[in-house]
Amino acid sequence: MNVTDTMVDHFHQQGFFFMPCPFDAKIMKRFRELVNETEEQFQNTDWSENKSALTCRFFMLSEITLELAEDVRLVSLAERLLGVDQVHVGTCGVGDGASPMFPGRDGDKGLYWHADGSPDIKQVSIRIAIDRHGIDEGGLRILPGSHLLPLDRVKEELVQLELASGEHDAIPTRLHCTHPNETPIVMDPRWTLVWSPSCWHGTTPNLNGKQRRTICWNYFPPGGRATCKQSVQYALGDAWQDWSDARKGFWGMH
Ligand SMILES: [Fe+2]
Repeated sequence: MNVTDTMVDHFHQQGFFFMPCPFDAKIMKRFRELVNETEEQFQNTDWSENKSALTCRFFMLSEITLELAEDVRLVSLAERLLGVDQVHVGTCGVGDGASPMFPGRDGDKGLYWHADGSPDIKQVSIRIAIDRHGIDEGGLRILPGSHLLPLDRVKEELVQLELASGEHDAIPTRLHCTHPNETPIVMDPRWTLVWSPSCWHGTTPNLNGKQRRTICWNYFPPGGRATCKQSVQYALGDAWQDWSDARKGFWGMH
């Protein structure tokens, strides 16, 4: 895994970079098989009362997903990007985060523009495609550099661009407009996206209905967001209590 200083600079200035998938084909094949084997069960579970379905799914796959995020190369990369000597995982998920099956998703328009954080929130997200997907499959779109800008400034830009569509009677709250600086992303399993979700992002609508699943997890510096304990408990029951202290700490399960 070779991450150059210019790639690090790109992360800080633009909010993202790509690198080759750090895991070998055998591991990713096993992971994909596990996801596919559990797909039907996941789809047939009623998640309407549980906003953390994708997080639960991450922990349901258990050892393999835990080991991906605990990979020392990625942990040290996150520490380097964040300028700290310790990180933990504060959020994670497996599946399709833009699926209309989740409340608040605008199925016919894609997932609206938003930032999961702000310029003050330091985080590094790793995102690996399970299914290759782009614009026609509800692909990710991001606004490079927007992680450095005040939230209300970016929001106002998007509101004005949205109003320029002439489709609204009032100030819109769900923003799907095209931004002149947006970067549409084709997520390909060969390339891993390393980015800050403080960068404004959304998705295009999934026009052809193909699967557009990913696995992702976010590293945070000490004091940053903590893992959803209820999701771990839901997925694993009390089995997590047998984890080592180091693993409990890394996943915020003290
Ligand atoms: Fe998001």
